[in-house]
Amino acid sequence: MSKKDNIPREYRGDTAAIRAQMKRSGHREHSQPVYLTSSFVFESAEQARDTFTGELEGQIYSRYNNPGTDEFIEKLCLLEGTEDGLSTSSGMAAIFGALASLLRSGDHIVASRSIFGSTLQIISNILPRWGISFSYVDSRDFRQWEEALRPETKMVFLETPSNPCLDIIDLEKLSELTKTRGIILAVDNTFATPVLQNPARLGADLVIHSATKFIDGQGRVLGGAILGPENLIEEARFFTRQTGPALSPFNGWVLSKSLETLSLRMDRHCSSARTVADHLESRRKINYVLYPELDSHFNREIAEKQMKKGGGLVSFEVPGGSRGAMDFLNRLKMISISSNLGDSRSIATHPATTTHARLTEEERAAVGVTPGLIRLSVGLEEIEDILEDIDQAL
Ligand SMILES: Cc1ncc(COP(=O)(O)O)c(C=O)c1O
Repeated sequence: MSKKDNIPREYRGDTAAIRAQMKRSGHREHSQPVYLTSSFVFESAEQARDTFTGELEGQIYSRYNNPGTDEFIEKLCLLEGTEDGLSTSSGMAAIFGALASLLRSGDHIVASRSIFGSTLQIISNILPRWGISFSYVDSRDFRQWEEALRPETKMVFLETPSNPCLDIIDLEKLSELTKTRGIILAVDNTFATPVLQNPARLGADLVIHSATKFIDGQGRVLGGAILGPENLIEEARFFTRQTGPALSPFNGWVLSKSLETLSLRMDRHCSSARTVADHLESRRKINYVLYPELDSHFNREIAEKQMKKGGGLVSFEVPGGSRGAMDFLNRLKMISISSNLGDSRSIATHPATTTHARLTEEERAAVGVTPGLIRLSVGLEEIEDILEDIDQAL
């Protein structure tokens, strides 16, 4: 162990993301190696016993933790300003792990209707099997949050910005409501990343990430994280250790390295997305554009208050409904058609027939997923090439 291994928690943003290298192997490596091992050995039976009881710190088994996944989580906690955290094999494993570990039969969850399709499926079709009821609210109407809360409400769950319509929810205001009633406020921060928004610093209890998106940033690996105060993370950790959605050592290593460049990449994603949003708004062929920094955005002022920048996604509606949207996608020459986002490559998605296809038409309409809606994840290519491709496809 070198003196520099114990990184003080005061390290700021990028410095923490780069310098929080917690475990060295003894070979004086500069960059953290990948620890491809399923388990760790003990010097003695007593050491094994004491590590299992928690009396001694140390690695046990990669379903519990691994130096690579530990480093990733340590950095993420520093960036988000949370006490504790755990990594998972995907964003959905993080969301399911948080909900399943903290909710009990008889509890009620209130969620924004504008959330990722698979999260809606968990809340509507999986949690009720275990006696957990739910209510959805139109997150733009703040009164609906208050009206939906019941004595048995245990958790409020939301995304801000939301997938795919980029709705923005006032986290400080909502946390005042949840705190007075002892309700856990859980925020999926995937779209903003810790670079643009820190929900825990705005009053949220749990911060959840799909690290598969901007954190990886190059479309290579799946990963997720649940971050928050020690007492909540301990419960979530008990659940994930037993049920097994562990982040693989290799993916943990990739994601830890990715954090080192996240803020630089987010700068470029955001500036290019803003240029694309302005450009699309100036085009007559577009019905409307959704981007948190635009004057036309419903909650621009809240976005300005709680986010550093508008993010890397732009959603817009083309005329001609589903056919118009598919024709636009088919005419793209460079921008990929895919359901992922947050990649260095720009990606266009038709939410109505892919990520939100399992919802009914009424449910899609209620969250603004119209047949002509396109979600564009603006990548790191030269902005002129991105704009040219969009223009020729229009
Ligand atoms: C906001 C949001 N949360 C969670 C997920 C799920 O993440 P993963 O694909 O890593 O399971 C996604 C996937 O698109 C997402 O957009």
